[in-house]
Amino acid sequence: MKKLSRTINWSMLSQDELDSKDLMLVNAAKEATKGSWSPYSGFSVGAALLLDDGTVVTGSNQENAAYPSGLCAERTALFAAGHSHPGKAVTALAIAARNEKGYTAQPITPCGACRQVLAETEQRGGKPIRYILYGTEGTMIIEGGTDAILPFCFGADSMK
Ligand code: THU
Repeated sequence: MKKLSRTINWSMLSQDELDSKDLMLVNAAKEATKGSWSPYSGFSVGAALLLDDGTVVTGSNQENAAYPSGLCAERTALFAAGHSHPGKAVTALAIAARNEKGYTAQPITPCGACRQVLAETEQRGGKPIRYILYGTEGTMIIEGGTDAILPFCFGADSMK
């Protein structure tokens, strides 16, 4: 028997420790929460993607009375980028979320379904995605790509 383990690294930064590119993307994610249609959860999520040509593509969660028909902010942004900027790699994703009290104190991380789409987006782009997850008490930065948040991922290669 062989026992294996892995380590996940991340950083927590205060607002004034963010570099200007990360801050720009966080601000774009915060702004994107304004486009959220979330009357059922009352939870407005904004996502901002940075593409390798410098383009920023944003998205927000879009809910529906038939709950499963809605879509998270991350996939709204990812599919918009895939459609409008085909062939451009996604190099970073910022997320911000707010409820009736304001922005969440702790960062939120993408749900499992969004992680799966992020994994394939990253594989297609060939560049690791940097995660910048905003909370009022600190912003979480995850470098090194989607493997950190979705280890043992199923993907196209799994079928070979
Ligand atoms: N949501 C997102 O948009 N992104 C996440 O990372 C987590 C959850 C949305 C889905 C739903 O509209 C609301 O937040 C509550 O789950």
